[in-house]
Amino acid sequence: MKGGGYYDAHSKEQRSALEAFLPWIEEAIADLPILSDSQESLGILDIGSSEGGNAIYAMNRLISGLRCISSLPIGVFFNDLPTNDFNHLFKNLYPDGEAALSGTNIFPSAIGGTAYGRIVPPQSLHIATTFNTIGWLEKKPDARLPNYILPMGPGPLAPRESISVSETERAPFRIQAADDLHRFYTARADELVNGGKLLVQVFGRDERFSTSDGLYDVLSDSVLNCVEEGTLPLEVYEKLVFPIYFRNLEELLAPIATDAQLAKSFRIDKAETCEVSVPFNVALSDNGDIAAWSRSYTGFLRAFTEAILASALPGDLPLGDTLDKIYHQVEHRLAADPARYEFHYISIAALLTRV
Ligand SMILES: C[S@@+](CC[C@H](N)C(=O)[O-])C[C@H]1O[C@@H](n2cnc3c(N)ncnc32)[C@H](O)[C@@H]1O
Repeated sequence: MKGGGYYDAHSKEQRSALEAFLPWIEEAIADLPILSDSQESLGILDIGSSEGGNAIYAMNRLISGLRCISSLPIGVFFNDLPTNDFNHLFKNLYPDGEAALSGTNIFPSAIGGTAYGRIVPPQSLHIATTFNTIGWLEKKPDARLPNYILPMGPGPLAPRESISVSETERAPFRIQAADDLHRFYTARADELVNGGKLLVQVFGRDERFSTSDGLYDVLSDSVLNCVEEGTLPLEVYEKLVFPIYFRNLEELLAPIATDAQLAKSFRIDKAETCEVSVPFNVALSDNGDIAAWSRSYTGFLRAFTEAILASALPGDLPLGDTLDKIYHQVEHRLAADPARYEFHYISIAALLTRV
């Protein structure tokens, strides 16, 4: 993610996507197994916390719920990749020197590591959550997508000659996503206490839309525009791949449905797909301000695509200027043709109990 507070400032849409499912886990708190005499503390973990704005908000909601049933100390663990801007997360945890996590006996910490392996000791968690994260693949498969930038392929409203992803090209990414998810659930099964809860939410797709539609089309068109005007070599486009997979609900649940060990480890309490409201779309329908919509849409997109785009650009180009040019092009294209880049946030989620 783009650090220095940029992700936090441009992630209202992710907040809206996780907000839709937070009540599930708040309601499930009443069922948690926290009455054991030997128990000395509770553990809650958020996976893929980024700079912390949304994660701290979510963890505060859980802390409020937990405080209704227990006064035990709570360890609150925030995880992300080691490359994350953890400095910003710590600043968010203590803005102006005051703790952002509410209440007493709360012990926050941050852990660098991957969602697809173990993050905390066995049976140390009562709740684990992940929001808008596990679509990011652990690694890019050894495969090329020369005619688009994302395994899902272009959206239906943005056709362009010779831009496509075949099923054969997509397959290695689909397989990697399935394998990642299997390792994700296996690690959480080890970490959760019996009766512990896991809330998994991520951007995805349903039978009508993929969250990728429009979003990656405008980025693809903008990079291609730079190729056509000679600012970037075609090779940059051909090699550029965002290793992200947008699952449907069936794919989210597949490891639990198909692996006997995982089926024994988790009970599926709830599972749902919903289209969540997107703050910049709501603002547009309220005020009709296309320029503001394009600006917000661009900021949202830039926050989670810039790092990968930057790593794909040739070293002999001025990095900052080239990125600014591409995202300026994104904003310009959005304003010129909003219908081509219509955006729908499809949020998929499951609430599981460790059994
Ligand atoms: C779109 S942000 C979501 C942040 C926050 N959860 C939210 O909903 O606003 C995705 C986060 O997932 C992190 N991430 C990507 N792959 C990961 C992995 N394998 N393990 C842990 N975090 C990962 C990224 O670094 C990024 O901070």
